[in-house]
Amino acid sequence: MEGKILVTGGSGFIGSNFIRHTLQVKPGIRIYNLDALTYAGNPLNLVNLPESQQARYCFIHGDICDARLLKDLFQKEKFNGVIHFAAESHVDRSIHGPEAFIKTNVNGTFQLLEASLAMWKRNGQQSDFRFLHISTDEVYGSLGAEGYFTEKTPYDPSSPYSASKASSDHLVKAYFRTFGLPVLVTNCSNNYGPYQFPEKLIPLMILNILEKKELPVYGDGKNVRDWLYVIDHCEALLKVFDEGIVGETYNIGGGTELQNIQIVHLLCDLLDAKLGRSGKNTSRNLIRFVTDRPGHDRRYAIDASKIEKELGWKARFIFQDAITKTLDWYIDHMDWVNSVQSGEYKKWIENNYGKR
Ligand code: NAD
Ligand code: DAU
Repeated sequence: MEGKILVTGGSGFIGSNFIRHTLQVKPGIRIYNLDALTYAGNPLNLVNLPESQQARYCFIHGDICDARLLKDLFQKEKFNGVIHFAAESHVDRSIHGPEAFIKTNVNGTFQLLEASLAMWKRNGQQSDFRFLHISTDEVYGSLGAEGYFTEKTPYDPSSPYSASKASSDHLVKAYFRTFGLPVLVTNCSNNYGPYQFPEKLIPLMILNILEKKELPVYGDGKNVRDWLYVIDHCEALLKVFDEGIVGETYNIGGGTELQNIQIVHLLCDLLDAKLGRSGKNTSRNLIRFVTDRPGHDRRYAIDASKIEKELGWKARFIFQDAITKTLDWYIDHMDWVNSVQSGEYKKWIENNYGKR
């Protein structure tokens, strides 16, 4: 990876980890981060970049649905690649209010494809240009007790979120087949790590344990997710961007399948050991089984053999170590936590959990 790269949604969880990681490992790259700074985007995620990297990073406040802004930006800058993270990303929010998901995930992706295609054509179909679309394993729907998602698994999304991501995947692939735009698509499993907004399972549970609040587990707690440390995801994305075959899809997963209740128990036990809680004060007493998420997919599990065999990527981080690193990060960054637990966050918690 060389030259000027446009990253969208770089102020969110995975995007900010990706920018930090990439500036560090790719000295030949300049990153332009286009982010609308929704509730999930936080400028604090990218403060304190090492001084030597600051000149290679530029923030642009804007919306990927804004065709005019994209047109001007792509006319002014000749990008060598686009790495598209920007999305509405939380399943529960898509149940409460799907419209924002359709706007950003479907229309926003369409606008970005249009701007990329126009630039790519204007520049004589630049041979080094690549459009990497970051998607999710949720587009494949739900697995039973057996089997894995491969790149050939038919799409069968369950939530407005996953349906909007599926739509965007189809659009991206259509721009390859119809116009030849050099695109790549990745479908990844559940990430965890620093800077994840505390509406998602792992950070929500960590903070609720620290604050001795109830731990809301949906349904019977036996839904399974395949967990991947965010830096493993970033390394996979760099591999795909640099070495993937255009027009192809790559599944990315950590091979760490856990039931939600197993995760919650583990977080309670790890934090209790740190905080000296035991006996009747054990955090497991905070667990509450609450009304299930509608359309809740039972199990996700990725077959990552394609990216492993073809591109030589493999998840490096061991779950037990990386989850400990993650909870230590939250404990050490309470200023960040306080900044994101704003009025909007409180309203969301009340809205989603108040009625369960
Ligand atoms: P996030 O919600 O933490 O961040 C999303 C970012 O996009 C925020 O910075 C937000 O401000 C920005 N954004 C939202 N709407 C925008 C718009 N209209 N214009 C410009 N910026 C906008 O999300 P995340 O968890 O970092 O996920 C990033 C991407 O990875 C998403 O596309 C998601 O579908 C995908 N993904 C996430 C996971 C996961 O476990 N978190 C797993 C697989 C794939
Ligand atoms: O699989 C990849 C997807 O992982 C990404 O595409 C999404 O952007 C990301 O949000 C994530 O989706 P999930 O719905 O799997 O993640 P979430 O953290 O919301 O929930 C994980 C599991 O925990 C899920 O089975 C629902 C359950 N859960 C979640 C919350 C927030 C609870 O039991 N209680 C909760 O309060």
